[in-house]
Amino acid sequence: MGPGMKRAAGLLLLLLAIPFPAAAGGRPTAQAARPLDDRVREFLDAQKGRWRQENVTETDGRLLHDLILERGYTRALEIGTSTGHSGIWQAWALSKTGGSLVTVEIEEFRHLAAVRNFKAAGLDPWIDARLGDAHTLVETLAGPFDFIFIDADQNWTPNYFRALLPKLAPGGCFAVHNVLSLGYMKGVREFLDEVRRLDVVETTVETSSGGGISLSFRKR
Ligand SMILES: C[S@@+](CC[C@H](N)C(=O)[O-])C[C@H]1O[C@@H](n2cnc3c(N)ncnc32)[C@H](O)[C@@H]1O
Repeated sequence: MGPGMKRAAGLLLLLLAIPFPAAAGGRPTAQAARPLDDRVREFLDAQKGRWRQENVTETDGRLLHDLILERGYTRALEIGTSTGHSGIWQAWALSKTGGSLVTVEIEEFRHLAAVRNFKAAGLDPWIDARLGDAHTLVETLAGPFDFIFIDADQNWTPNYFRALLPKLAPGGCFAVHNVLSLGYMKGVREFLDEVRRLDVVETTVETSSGGGISLSFRKR
């Protein structure tokens, strides 16, 4: 190779080593500029079959998404983030209604994984992920909320309900995961008996979810 060719090859290597301007300059990369729907769909497709931390099924995630969208809910609270599967479905709907989600998880490794997943899906701007014990944390949340999803320590459900009913907006929904599959638990039975007796909420159980999701809508 002659000296001219050597100089050209050196210049080419130098150019290849310089980062692409969009990524280096902090401007949106092609990844970030993609429409949100595409980004969320791609993330969920890539994660299919890989949710292993007691996460909701895709059917249940979609059910939460559709309910939020149909009712136009904007102020959501989830107890039991785990690694974020249900949070992603809810936040996806909330990104369309102009709302946001507060989600609470007690296990640090799950909370951190959820935060990574929310970011990877592009939904982190719509999610306030809290690390802590929901037993005490719910008391500190101002509310009001119009969608509350309980998917944590189901025996504590009556206490979550009592603490959060005053913070549930009229027309809002208090949803509890797996009330059929976990119906043997004292707390779940106690919760269902209590809400069915109350005039202020109307309760149904959504059976298209394998484990059953109770939906208690606040009347006033
Ligand atoms: C069934 S998993 C939640 C799955 C999640 N909703 C999803 O679909 O990705 C229940 C989660 O609740 C959390 N949890 C249990 N007790 C809790 C508490 N007192 N406060 C906050 N989180 C709690 C558990 O650590 C666990 O990650």
